[in-house]
Amino acid sequence: MKSSGMFLVQAHLFLGVASALVIHSMPWKVACPYQCICQIKPWYSPQSVYREAPTVDCNDLLLTQLPSSLPLETQTLRLQSNLISTLDQSELQGLANLTELDLSQNSFSSTRHVRITGLQTLLSLHMEENQLHHLPDSAFSGLPNLQELYLNHNRLRNISPGAFKGLDNLLRLHLNSNRLVVIDRRWFHALPRLEVLMIGGNPVDAIQDLNFKPLGSLRSLVLAGMGLRELSERALEGLLNLESISFYDNHLTKVPKEALQKLPGLKFLDLNKNPIQLVQQGDFRDMLHLKELGLNNMEELVSIEHSAMENLPELTKLEITNNPRLSYIHPQAFQHLLSMESLMLNSNALSALHRETVRSLPSLQEISLHTNPIRCDCLIRWVGAEDDKPVRFIEPQSTFCSEPPELKARRLKEVSFREMADSCLPLIAPGTFPPYVQVRHGDNLALHCRALAEPEPSIYWVTPKGLRLSPSSSHGRYQVLTEGTLEIFGITAEEAGFYTCVAQNLVGADTRSVTVRVDGGGKAHLMSGWRVKDNLEVKDVRERYALLAWPASHNVPLARLSWLANESMEDHHRHSTRILAGTRGFNLTRLQPGTHYKVCLQLGPNDTSCVHLRTKEVPVPAASPDLTPAVLLAASALLLLLAAKACQGGASLGWKEQGQDPEKSHTSLLSEVKDQISASSPQQKQQQQCPAKDSTDCSSTKSSNTQHAQNVQGASTESR
Ligand SMILES: *[C@@H]1O[C@H](CO)[C@@H](O)[C@H](O)[C@H]1NC(C)=O
Ligand SMILES: *[C@@H]1O[C@H](CO)[C@@H](O)[C@H](O)[C@H]1NC(C)=O
Ligand SMILES: *[C@@H]1O[C@H](CO)[C@@H](O)[C@H](O)[C@H]1NC(C)=O
Ligand SMILES: *[C@@H]1O[C@H](CO)[C@@H](O)[C@H](O)[C@H]1NC(C)=O
Repeated sequence: MKSSGMFLVQAHLFLGVASALVIHSMPWKVACPYQCICQIKPWYSPQSVYREAPTVDCNDLLLTQLPSSLPLETQTLRLQSNLISTLDQSELQGLANLTELDLSQNSFSSTRHVRITGLQTLLSLHMEENQLHHLPDSAFSGLPNLQELYLNHNRLRNISPGAFKGLDNLLRLHLNSNRLVVIDRRWFHALPRLEVLMIGGNPVDAIQDLNFKPLGSLRSLVLAGMGLRELSERALEGLLNLESISFYDNHLTKVPKEALQKLPGLKFLDLNKNPIQLVQQGDFRDMLHLKELGLNNMEELVSIEHSAMENLPELTKLEITNNPRLSYIHPQAFQHLLSMESLMLNSNALSALHRETVRSLPSLQEISLHTNPIRCDCLIRWVGAEDDKPVRFIEPQSTFCSEPPELKARRLKEVSFREMADSCLPLIAPGTFPPYVQVRHGDNLALHCRALAEPEPSIYWVTPKGLRLSPSSSHGRYQVLTEGTLEIFGITAEEAGFYTCVAQNLVGADTRSVTVRVDGGGKAHLMSGWRVKDNLEVKDVRERYALLAWPASHNVPLARLSWLANESMEDHHRHSTRILAGTRGFNLTRLQPGTHYKVCLQLGPNDTSCVHLRTKEVPVPAASPDLTPAVLLAASALLLLLAAKACQGGASLGWKEQGQDPEKSHTSLLSEVKDQISASSPQQKQQQQCPAKDSTDCSSTKSSNTQHAQNVQGASTESR
C-alpha cells in the first residue's frame, strides 16, 4: 500500500486533518478510573479544529464493559483493544462534552448492542476491527453531529439502504476491508456532506453507473483492492468535487479514461498495481487540474505511447516506477505538460529516455532513472551535453550504464558526451512480449514490439508463412500499428507458428520472436501446458492416459471431473469422478488411443472448465485386444502433491521445468508420488528423495501426507 499511501497522505493534507505540530500531553488532575490514564491531550477535529482534550485512555485492559465513574469533563475516551461487546447510553451518562469515542478492536457483533440514544457532542466514533456483519436502518441515529465514522476491518456483508440516516454531518466514512459485494447508492443519500470515503478491500467487482451520485461534496475516494476489471463511462458521474481517487490494486486492464473525464476537479490519481499493458494515446487528456499521477507496480505495462498524456496543464509529478516490463516511452508520449517538475521513472526496464521526451517538459526539475538497464549510447547522450538545461538526477550515484560492455557499471552522469556513440542499433527489449503465447482458435491476439534507436527504427513483423507486415502494409486479419504492435483478428490453427518482429535502422537491426500456439481448430497439436479458461490444463497426453492439472481451490469442498469420448455422443458413455478439495491433478487412465475426448472439471455450480484432447495413435497398428470402448472408463487418481511441488520447485506442479527433459520429470514425479503413497515411513522416504539443496522445502511437505491418503480414498470412480 506504500505508493497509494502517497495519495492518501495528500488527501489528508488538503483536508487539513493531519498535523505536523507535535504538542505534548499535560497532566489532568482528576479521579481517574482504575488502570486508565487521564491526561489533557492535543486533539484535532476532522475539520482541523484544535482542542486540548481531557482524555481517558483505557486501551488494552481486557475490559468487558466500560469503566464506571468516568470524569464528566472527558472529551476523548479510548477503549481500544478490550473485550467490550455492549455499550449503553447510561454508561456515558453526564459526559456532556464527549467528542471522540474509540471502541476499535473490541467484540461488537451488532450495532444493536451499541445503544446510544443521544450524544450531541460526539464527532468521532471508532468501531474498526470489531465483528459487525450487518448495519440496519438508522444504525447510528443518536449521533447528529458525528463527523467521522470508522467501520473498517469488520465483517460487514450487508448494509441497509438507510443505515446512515441521521448522519447529516458526516465528513469521513471508512468502510474499507469488509465483505461488501455491492456498493448501494441509497446509502449515500443520507450523507450530503461526506468528503472522504474509503471503501476499498471489499469484494466488489463492479461499480454501477452513477453509483456515487449523491456524494457531490466528496473530495477523496479510495477504491483500492476491489477486483475492479473495468469502469463504465458513467460510474463516477456526479463526483463534481472529487480531488483524489485511488484504484490501487485492482484488475483494470485499461485506463478508465471515459469515467475519469467525469471528474472535473481531479488532482491526484492513483492507478498503481493494475494489469494495464499500454498507456495509449488519449488515456490522460485534458484533465485540467491533475497534479499527480501514479502508474507504479504494473507487472504488465510495456509501453507509454505517443500522446499518452496530453494537455495536463497542472501536472507537476508523474510517477511511473517499478514496472518490470516497461521498456518503451515514446519520444512524444508527453504533450503540453507545462508544469511537470518531477518525473520518476526508476526501476523499470527502460534502456533509454529520449531527449525529446525531456525537451517536451519545459518545467522539468528532477528526474529519476536509476535501476533501469540503461544503454549509454546515442539515445541518452543528452545527459552529458552541456547545452541542455540542467535537470537534477535523483540518486545519480546509483544510475548506471548496463550497455555497451565497455561502459558497463559506469555511472551515467560520469560518462562524457564524447564517449557515447552518436547513432545506435535498435534494441527490442526482452520483456515486451513473451517467447511463447497460447490462444484459442478465433481469438484476437496483440503482440507489442517496441524499439528505440537513433535514427528512429522502423518495425515490421514476419509471419510463419513468411509474409512481411508493416504499418503500411496491413493484410486481411493482420494489422501492424505504427508503434509496432501486431494484431491478429480471429486467429486460426493454421496461423500458429513463429512470428518475428524486426526493428531496423541504417545502423542495423534487432529481431525477437514469439511462438504462437492455437488450439481448438481441429488441427491443434497437444502440448504440455495447453489450457482452456485458465483452469483445467492438459499436462501430458499419451496413447492411453492423459495427465490433467488445475489450480487448487480451497473454498470448494468437492469437485467433479467428467470425460467423454466425442465419438460416442451418448450420455451413458460419460464418466465422472469426485475429487476431494486440495487435489490438483488427475491421471485419466484407460483411454482409447487416437481418440478425441472432452474433459470437464466442475468446481461449483457455475464454474466448469473443459478441455479437448486427443490421445496419441498407437505406433504399431496391432492394438491390445482387451480394450473395448465400454470398459475403457475408469480412472485412478494421481495425486499431484504439494510435496511434488516443493521438492521439484517447479511452476504450478513442478512438471515443466525449464531445461529439463519433461519425460524425465514426469516419471520421477510419478515414482515419487507412488513411493509417498506406499511408503510405510513417508517422511523418511521423502527426505531421501529430496535433493539436499531443497531440504527446507521438502521438510514442509511432511504434513501433507495425511492429505495424500485422504485424496486416495476420496477420489472414487463412478459412471452413470
Ligand atoms: C463542557 O465544555 C464547556 C465549554 O468548554 C464547559 O463550559 C463545560 O464546563 C464542559 N462541561 C463539563 C461537564 O466538563
Ligand atoms: C471430435 O472432435 C474433433 C476435434 O474437435 C473433431 O474434429 C471431430 O469431428 C469430432 N468428432 C465427432 C464425432 O464429433
Ligand atoms: C449460476 O447460474 C445461474 C443461472 O445462469 C444463476 O441464476 C446463478 O445466480 C448463478 N450462480 C452463481 C453463484 O453465480
Ligand atoms: C498414468 O497412468 C498410466 C496408466 O496407469 C501410467 O502408465 C502412467 O505412468 C501414469 N502417469 C503418471 C504421471 O502417473
